[in-house]
Amino acid sequence: MKDVFGKALLDYRNNNYSEDIITWTNISDEDELPLPYLFRTYKDMPKLEQHALQLAKGHILDVGCGAGSHSLYLQEKGFSVKAIDISQGAVKVAQERGVNNVSQTAILDVTETFDTILLLMNGTGIFQQLSQVAIYLKHLKSLLNPNGQILIDSSDISYMYEDDDGGLWIDTNANYFGELDYFLSYKGEKEQPMKWLYLDFDTLKTACDTLGLQCELVMEGEHFDYLARIY
Ligand SMILES: C[S@@+](CC[C@H](N)C(=O)[O-])C[C@H]1O[C@@H](n2cnc3c(N)ncnc32)[C@H](O)[C@@H]1O
Repeated sequence: MKDVFGKALLDYRNNNYSEDIITWTNISDEDELPLPYLFRTYKDMPKLEQHALQLAKGHILDVGCGAGSHSLYLQEKGFSVKAIDISQGAVKVAQERGVNNVSQTAILDVTETFDTILLLMNGTGIFQQLSQVAIYLKHLKSLLNPNGQILIDSSDISYMYEDDDGGLWIDTNANYFGELDYFLSYKGEKEQPMKWLYLDFDTLKTACDTLGLQCELVMEGEHFDYLARIY
């Protein structure tokens, strides 16, 4: 990983903001990811995220913390928060912004246990592929204290396969429709391609059922997105 994402966060943090991150996928054209969005305060967060923060309790793990916006809010509310990210730049930015307990760690390497595990801004993306969902969920389950919970958001992206007359062009012989190849560039530098998974609620719930986890739909957003609580 070249950590192009981390470089962009560091630029924004260091007042070198001149352009946004460009993202695209194997099924969609270029789109801008505005850097200020990654530094959002509570009032600028989507309702789903605000709701997740209200449900958070106890000792909290913020997985893929990015610039640390969710961690900072929770920390200011008095919660004990640990934030992790695989991006060195993101970790540095979160630290500089005041997140007290942040480290460059991949979720599968975490062993400490928590009362709340947060995965926000398409939290299922980190699972990468449908075939890995059980591996990640099993691991997350092992990190939960008694009565602990996982709060995770994602979207049903089947709408992205709709053609102009409303028909769907999903190839049923291909992989699961939410498995995307995700590309990112910033100031002309391209990140290595990533796998990024969008999971519809029913598929997430089925995976949870198999592992003996309860999965409830907490809230639906305005564009096929949702917040789930797993326990
Ligand atoms: C879409 S960003 C979300 C950032 C932040 N949660 C937010 O809402 O602004 C996803 C983050 O997950 C991190 N990430 C990806 N895979 C990870 C893994 N296996 N363990 C921990 N963090 C990971 C990325 O580096 C990135 O910062």
